[in-house]
Amino acid sequence: MTTTFVHGGVVVSPTGSQPLDVLIDGETIVAVLQPGSTLLGADLASSSDVVVDATGKYVIPGGVDGHTHMEMPFGGTFASDSFETGTRAAAWGGTTTIVDFAIQNPGMRVQDTLAAWHDKAAGSCSIDYGFHQIIGDVDSDSLKAMSELVSEGVTSFKLFMAYPGVFYSDDGKILRAMQTAAETGALLMMHAENGIAIDVLVEQSIARGDTAPYFHGTSRPWQLEEEATHRAIMLADVTGAPLYVVHVSAKQALEQIATARGKGRNVFAETCPQYLYLSLEEQLGAPGFEGAKWVCSTPLRSRAEGHQDELWRYLRTGDVSTVGTDHCPFCLKDQKEMGIGDFSKIPNGIGSVEHRMDLMYQGVVSGKITLEKWVEVCCTTPARMFGMYPRKGIVSPGADADLVIYDPNGRTTIGVETHHMRMDYSAYEGMTVDGHVDTVISRGTIVVDRGEYLGRAGHGQFVRRDLSQNLV
Ligand code: URP
Ligand code: ZN
Ligand code: ZN
Ligand code: ZN
Repeated sequence: MTTTFVHGGVVVSPTGSQPLDVLIDGETIVAVLQPGSTLLGADLASSSDVVVDATGKYVIPGGVDGHTHMEMPFGGTFASDSFETGTRAAAWGGTTTIVDFAIQNPGMRVQDTLAAWHDKAAGSCSIDYGFHQIIGDVDSDSLKAMSELVSEGVTSFKLFMAYPGVFYSDDGKILRAMQTAAETGALLMMHAENGIAIDVLVEQSIARGDTAPYFHGTSRPWQLEEEATHRAIMLADVTGAPLYVVHVSAKQALEQIATARGKGRNVFAETCPQYLYLSLEEQLGAPGFEGAKWVCSTPLRSRAEGHQDELWRYLRTGDVSTVGTDHCPFCLKDQKEMGIGDFSKIPNGIGSVEHRMDLMYQGVVSGKITLEKWVEVCCTTPARMFGMYPRKGIVSPGADADLVIYDPNGRTTIGVETHHMRMDYSAYEGMTVDGHVDTVISRGTIVVDRGEYLGRAGHGQFVRRDLSQNLV
């Protein structure tokens, strides 16, 4: 088996950072050593097959993006990244594992939908991947399927309080799914927005002639995220199920989560880079139809109301547990354009699977979070919460050799001309960020090396996940 020796770098984990060398045998990390260590008398730099010099750089666990939607069917079209293009772009950005969402719509067998997602991903991915299962139709069959899927390595289930008539579950259905999650130990994920009230506001907005992308934001006010978040927390508490609230964007929703956590409830928040950096005024409010680029749900929030700063603060307090991208790209041409003259027809989603590690590193540069927190929310905690730890998310003997050599002195300019996602625009066009993903190793194989892509579709394997760990 190939041995790979990564030396001279500073290894970062949630508990600290120190100069350490890493020895990889095949697909696995076999030793993390003091610099200059020998193993059974051998100098590792000369005895290893492949040597990676990480001097002056950080050696971090490969990123774990717990929220992507490759090829997702939505509003009559499909998210523009396939598993092949999306995972390649993820690798470029230092992410070595994604967890994507298989989708059950009403009338479909859950097991069939999961099989369809397996078919789409198998042989296509350049990094490892797992699946969450969306339950769009809670009934006795789908509840039974939840238990079956847990034993197949799909241990988390997303429900929607939004999108009536598409994915929406009412409170009774949510309660039943939560009871099943509590019985099986599965993790219940929630899209927490009051979709029934939102649909009324959307209809009224369109009827008034307020049809531009900006009004996507104003018809999904923070009150309806706060309310749904609170309701989800209370329903989860009745059943004893842990609750993971996805893509939280409103500071008031986070306040609900922080309060619940303060009372010892098993509630966790995920946010996304777009909610930390972008806003209702600047992006959704861009002139003409341009705001369509940033139509996603939950929506971007008002900077004047201070949501973005509060989200950073909640990252520091630990009340935001993870950062995923909710990567769900749609091209402007022909896809987002379906909503010209009616924002409710714009497919919802932003693509950023390639930029999560760089964007979140800017929080380190600006002093908003520590280096260790960066690794914690982008790598370690998602691996742990989604039942992949310690195989993923940590640089430690026995773990999969998923590593990123990150250059803090590098710079990256984000834009459609240079990104690798299949999108005809960038949500962060022209933004120059400090730091650079230099080398990416996925299960012992170098897939990106200083500007060169060395990966291959099919290298990535399905990760059978265990039940989540330490959800307290
Ligand atoms: O706008 C979004 N977030 N699109 C993806 C689907 C979802 O709700 O996560
Ligand atoms: Zn959602
Ligand atoms: Zn999503
Ligand atoms: Zn570099």
